[in-house]
Amino acid sequence: MYFNLTRESCECCVAEMFPAVAPYPSYRPTSIRCSNDRQALFNRIAPVYDNLNDLLSLGQHRIWKRMAVSWTEAKKGDRVLDVCCGSGDLSFLLSNKVASNGKVIGLDFSKEQLMVASSRSFSTNCFNNIEWVEGDALDLPFSDAWFDAITMGYGLRNVVDKRKAMQEILRVLKPGSTASILDFNKSNELLTSSFTEWMIDNIVVPVASVYGLSDDYKYLKSSIREFLTGKELEKLALEVGFSTARHYEIGGGLMGCLVAKH
Ligand SMILES: C[S@@+](CC[C@H](N)C(=O)[O-])C[C@H]1O[C@@H](n2cnc3c(N)ncnc32)[C@H](O)[C@@H]1O
Repeated sequence: MYFNLTRESCECCVAEMFPAVAPYPSYRPTSIRCSNDRQALFNRIAPVYDNLNDLLSLGQHRIWKRMAVSWTEAKKGDRVLDVCCGSGDLSFLLSNKVASNGKVIGLDFSKEQLMVASSRSFSTNCFNNIEWVEGDALDLPFSDAWFDAITMGYGLRNVVDKRKAMQEILRVLKPGSTASILDFNKSNELLTSSFTEWMIDNIVVPVASVYGLSDDYKYLKSSIREFLTGKELEKLALEVGFSTARHYEIGGGLMGCLVAKH
């Protein structure tokens, strides 16, 4: 089960429809401001997204996600947010970090991804402490300084306004807390960037074509080209108001994680 906190409905209706969510003083209904084609893309690939991740990274994405979660320094009892949660990998890892008295919100604008995440909660090793929320990363439906830690995995590259997404993450993060933002690394090294593009052309797209999704995965190459380098991500984080920002290259430089403290 997941909750849609984004439709323009009044708070009393939401209290009726979603009693489990309504008690949050953080709740504020918003409308999704996004690129519809990206939303459609993530809805389309939802049924095969997890299989493809495992196949294409040879399972390595699980290690990178563990690293991203450990950089948040989330601990037992914390209230944490996984922005652009997709099918929920980072949310499940966070669930185990914050344990039964903690709380995890997994937020995404793709209904289909949230349905997959929600159904995985029954078969994945995690606590019963996760809520799936349909919402926009560019207008998070939470109060200021609401979360003890935030993750975002492969989301920042996909949002239409990266600065706004960073501003929103900062806004809902408590002072002193950490956001950990995992994504492809847009490398300045010619060898690394050529290798990434070679992988996409020769492995990712052909494998995705088996699932009838080659066009969807071609988008990956341009999204990495248009993404920010580690240094640019650090600069953006500091510009929007984070007090510290450090970008770590992982996975042999193919991936990167921006760790920024409020
Ligand atoms: C590549 S997936 C990553 C999913 C997951 N975090 C992971 O690491 O496996 C990117 C996700 O970002 C979501 N997304 C993109 N833009 C968004 C936005 N503006 N608001 C909420 N979710 C968004 C997509 O629906 C998609 O599920």
